Amino acid sequence: MRKPTFDMNVFAERRKKAGQEIQGGALIVASHPEHIRNHDVHFPYRQDSNLFYLTGWEEPESIMILRPGLVPETVMFVRRRDPERETWDGFRYGPEGCEREFKIDKAYPIDEFSKVAPQLLKEVDRVYYRLFKNPEVDHQMQSVLETVKQMQGRTGYGLLSIHDADTLLGEMRLVKSEFELTQLREACEISAQGHLAAMRFTRPGVTERQVQGVLAHHYFMKGSAREGYNHIVASGNAATTLHYNFNDQVCKDGDLLLIDSGAEYNFYTGDITRTYPVNGKFTDEQARVYEGVLKVQKQIIDFVKPGIVFKDLHEMGTSLLTDLMLELGLLSGRKEDLIQALAQKKYYPHGIGHWLGLDVHDAGLYFKKGEPRPIEANMCFTIEPGLYIPAEDTSAPQKYRGIGIRIEDNIRVTSTGSENMTSSVPKEITDIEKVVGKA
Ligand code: GLY
Ligand code: MN
Ligand code: MN
Repeated sequence: MRKPTFDMNVFAERRKKAGQEIQGGALIVASHPEHIRNHDVHFPYRQDSNLFYLTGWEEPESIMILRPGLVPETVMFVRRRDPERETWDGFRYGPEGCEREFKIDKAYPIDEFSKVAPQLLKEVDRVYYRLFKNPEVDHQMQSVLETVKQMQGRTGYGLLSIHDADTLLGEMRLVKSEFELTQLREACEISAQGHLAAMRFTRPGVTERQVQGVLAHHYFMKGSAREGYNHIVASGNAATTLHYNFNDQVCKDGDLLLIDSGAEYNFYTGDITRTYPVNGKFTDEQARVYEGVLKVQKQIIDFVKPGIVFKDLHEMGTSLLTDLMLELGLLSGRKEDLIQALAQKKYYPHGIGHWLGLDVHDAGLYFKKGEPRPIEANMCFTIEPGLYIPAEDTSAPQKYRGIGIRIEDNIRVTSTGSENMTSSVPKEITDIEKVVGKA
């Protein structure tokens, strides 16, 4: 008999908080669809972050309905137990196990959703549900909502209105609790130590795939269930491709290696990028570009404190990196004109960072009603400036062509500034040079 590994009070507390936000309504959250390859080969399943956040439940084909103030308050629809399927796919809790082990008020088999859900929803005045994430559940929701309307007859209650559940839950997920910070810090530390192991392993002749293997080995050995996202292990000019993940080349003497990789720990994920020379020694040109990007990253991190807005961090990144492009002779002209024309996007096409948590690009709004929102203590995000100069860019000075650099750390906002949760992986040139290749 399996047992959940999480403390169920944490999830009950979150449901209570969500419930306070939606009095009179109901929140409906479904699992992700399962990915199946070649008809019958299952990819490892990962629960929808919102459903996990509210229940700790990890099985697919599940739906939660939360009806604050009503009895039963939390209802789950889950797969039935099925001895035959369980011999193939493993243990299922079934509705009974769901109620007992996950402290859910009432659980039904998932195949009863269309029949039971209208009974539960006829007592509420609106629903919070995120359309377009699970087409099959969307389809069932149509019939459920129509049935609720039919049940109301001509009483004047029309179709229940649908509000975006992701907005509601994104707000909750944005500011991390102490419990969440413990998980996230662990994800960050495992990721950082994985990067350190990869640095030590790297030398000319190793393959990008082998470096990926070192990262993954470390993550799994330290208790990760998964990687937070596909590893990017990009040597030489491949580093100028933002989402490179072929990871199939040999790392060559003289090239830089850019690694963007993070471990997932208890569903929270780290997201670290480091760039360093394959042979352990920066050339003058590599060092010049690297120092430029590092200085920008540190300046932006130093600027972080409660009350600032994320948009200012983006703008600061754009401004400082455009200065660097001018300094390196990548662009010429007046900085303001270049930024106005988005010329800097040629070498820095992405943003300065993103919220971090259960998802690598975590939930939560950056703007509220069009206005940038102030940053608060215990929000967590990445700061990841980069500069990418493709080998084939004949307008760039020859000596810089083929250099791609990104430096990414994971930041928590404190009451007065910030905590860098990924500081244990080196980023100063002298520190990096002491580590690379020293397996
Ligand atoms: N690893 C994805 C990102 O940095 O946003
Ligand atoms: Mn990132
Ligand atoms: Mn990243």
